[in-house]
Amino acid sequence: MMLFYIFLVAAFGATTISAEAPISCLSLNYTGYFRDSDQFNLTVSGNFALSIINGTTYATASNLSIYNSVINAYATGVCYYSICCNITAPGASCTFDVRDTYILLYANFSSGPIPTVFTGIIADDGTFSTNKLFTPSKMCLSTSGQENTTYTGNTICCTSSVPAAVVTTNNKRCKRFTSRTTIYNIVDNYSIFSTSSLIYDVVGRTLYPRNLTDNAAPNYFVCYFDHTYFNNPLSCDQKGQVTYANITMDSGDTKFLISTFYLPYAEIFGINGILSARLLYRNDQLLMQEGVPFTPQNNCLYLKGPWYPSPKNYSTTANFCCSAFES
Ligand SMILES: *[C@@H]1O[C@H](CO)[C@@H](O)[C@H](O)[C@H]1NC(C)=O
Ligand SMILES: *[C@@H]1O[C@H](CO)[C@@H](O)[C@H](O)[C@H]1NC(C)=O
Ligand SMILES: *[C@@H]1O[C@H](CO)[C@@H](O)[C@H](O)[C@H]1NC(C)=O
Ligand SMILES: *[C@@H]1O[C@H](CO)[C@@H](O)[C@H](O)[C@H]1NC(C)=O
Ligand SMILES: *[C@@H]1O[C@H](CO)[C@@H](O)[C@H](O)[C@H]1NC(C)=O
Ligand SMILES: *[C@@H]1O[C@H](CO)[C@@H](O)[C@H](O)[C@H]1NC(C)=O
Ligand SMILES: *[C@@H]1O[C@H](CO)[C@@H](O)[C@H](O)[C@H]1NC(C)=O
Ligand SMILES: *[C@@H]1O[C@H](CO)[C@@H](O)[C@H](O)[C@H]1NC(C)=O
Ligand SMILES: *[C@@H]1O[C@H](CO)[C@@H](O)[C@H](O)[C@H]1NC(C)=O
Ligand SMILES: *[C@@H]1O[C@H](CO)[C@@H](O)[C@H](O)[C@H]1NC(C)=O
Ligand SMILES: *[C@@H]1O[C@H](CO)[C@@H](O)[C@H](O)[C@H]1NC(C)=O
Repeated sequence: MMLFYIFLVAAFGATTISAEAPISCLSLNYTGYFRDSDQFNLTVSGNFALSIINGTTYATASNLSIYNSVINAYATGVCYYSICCNITAPGASCTFDVRDTYILLYANFSSGPIPTVFTGIIADDGTFSTNKLFTPSKMCLSTSGQENTTYTGNTICCTSSVPAAVVTTNNKRCKRFTSRTTIYNIVDNYSIFSTSSLIYDVVGRTLYPRNLTDNAAPNYFVCYFDHTYFNNPLSCDQKGQVTYANITMDSGDTKFLISTFYLPYAEIFGINGILSARLLYRNDQLLMQEGVPFTPQNNCLYLKGPWYPSPKNYSTTANFCCSAFES
């Protein structure tokens, strides 16, 4: 395998950082396990390919195998939000539009509980990653974890890729961001259905959220989540109870994505968020996407998309802007 290196000279003198060329990963294979003390001893594997059609990201899953040795059974199907497909036929594949960048499949067994499987895969901005980034010398990324008597782990290997844009300048880091998301009611002349904003200070790799504003529609509430910390939202406003959590991003080359959820009080299951922020650390630079740093001249990431509970009736925009740079 060929390795490409670029050399960046840091602003403060002679330090030389060797940096690997970025890649966009277009397909991967996955092996993983999930084991608890009673219901599950799952072995999971499959292949995923990413495609973009008319601006929408699709993932196609194939060769899926999900085995629970506790009940000695293979899953018969997988579901992504309300889209389900049958995986029992040889050569079966399932394609779904990736919402909110996260691929969280529910495995359907002919009886018994429904576990989430293939966790950890991110399809964002035309490339697969985990919260770590693939590089030419690191085409497999592994994680493992244990909480009490629950064990999880996976290995995700990039099996095809293309080169990605390289940053050619060394830029000052951003130290404060303002994030704003809006949902428009298309069938009512694009009137605003819900809006919210959040400020994050960034110190090293830690995000300090503050100043949540919540103008969600009546009977909805807003939460900002990083999916690797689902139990710990960055900020949430539940019936006026506002919470904040400081979150430290991984070290090294990493992708940190934040989604804004507007959740109805009544039924919160199965609603995806709106991708509202991307912090990409590549070769020790802080970027809004591959090849694009935050700079005073180009300080905002703009995102837009449907709102999936009702994509024909609602659309969304998100602005993620650097409002202060390190001096
Ligand atoms: C879980 O299943 C795997 C293979 O299916 C088996 O090797 C392992 O011993 C099982 N572990 C437990 C704790 O049952
Ligand atoms: C992409 O969008 C264009 C214009 O809206 C439409 O004509 C075309 O059929 C779409 N292509 C696919 C593959 O959906
Ligand atoms: C399909 O998955 C099995 C494991 O379940 C693996 O042994 C095999 O190599 C995979 N085939 C392809 C084409 O990836
Ligand atoms: C999922 O499992 C249920 C039974 O538990 C079955 O009725 C349904 O058809 C399955 N769906 C798929 C796509 O396999
Ligand atoms: C899934 O596909 C298999 C094989 O094609 C078929 O026998 C089975 O009835 C299907 N199951 C469901 C729930 O559709
Ligand atoms: C793990 O155990 C601790 C202490 O008993 C408990 O507070 C926590 O909720 C448990 N975590 C899970 C995921 O069950
Ligand atoms: C996944 O891809 C890697 C890299 O191409 C390969 O070494 C590995 O054997 C593959 N694993 C499976 C289960 O197909
Ligand atoms: C939408 O806005 C336009 C321009 O402001 C106005 O002419 C039109 O009557 C509005 N339509 C509805 C359904 O409110
Ligand atoms: C953020 O909140 C702090 C403390 O509540 C307040 O002093 C400050 O004015 C707010 N800043 C903005 C930009 O709203
Ligand atoms: C986050 O960090 C700030 C500054 O150190 C601190 O005042 C605040 O209590 C922390 N918040 C939480 C929820 O730990
Ligand atoms: C979408 O808007 C139409 C027209 O206002 C309405 O009849 C329909 O119920 C709405 N659908 C959803 C899912 O909100």
